[in-house]
Amino acid sequence: MKLIKRQARKTITLGAALSLLSLCALGIPQAAATEPHLEKAIQRGQALFAHETFGGNGMTCQSCHVDGGVPPGKLPNGTAIPSLANAAVIFPRFNPRANKVITLDDQVRNCIARALQGQPPAYGSEQLMQLVSYLASLAQGKPLDINGRPQ
Ligand code: HEC
Repeated sequence: MKLIKRQARKTITLGAALSLLSLCALGIPQAAATEPHLEKAIQRGQALFAHETFGGNGMTCQSCHVDGGVPPGKLPNGTAIPSLANAAVIFPRFNPRANKVITLDDQVRNCIARALQGQPPAYGSEQLMQLVSYLASLAQGKPLDINGRPQ
């Protein structure tokens, strides 16, 4: 009897660990995944990040920001670029090239216009909200560090 109970507890713990693992595999931190609308927005953002070309040159975000943007990325010519793991907590920041302070929305639209040579989704659009939700999910739990350095 005692043995069965212990066995059952083990199975439950294993189940919980597995579901946590599968969430991690999706790159979605658990806290963010508890609100269904937000979870859906994050998942759609992740899909856009991996597959959407925005009518441009055929690249997606993931062409440069590899593996969902979690590790450091690289340009097609091999030049290393920062990870996006903390991007959501280091904006707004001063962009020397633009000579102004830009938000995360601005940065995402810049990458779509310049890197993807695509049509950036409008401010306030679902697609921009979904991409930003995905990037925010990568930075979940990290302290706000505006104008900080990319990881
Ligand atoms: C052709 C390569 C390329 C593609 C494709 C690309 N990016 Fe970028 N991205 C860069 C480079 C280079 C930087 C860093 C320099 C800069 O600010 O432009 C960057 C910077 C960023 C940053 C700021 C990172 C930081 O911490 O400073 C974000 C956020 C970002 N990209 C999001 C995206 C998203 C979302 C997409 C897809 C819609 C995308 N990028 C597609 C090359 C690319």
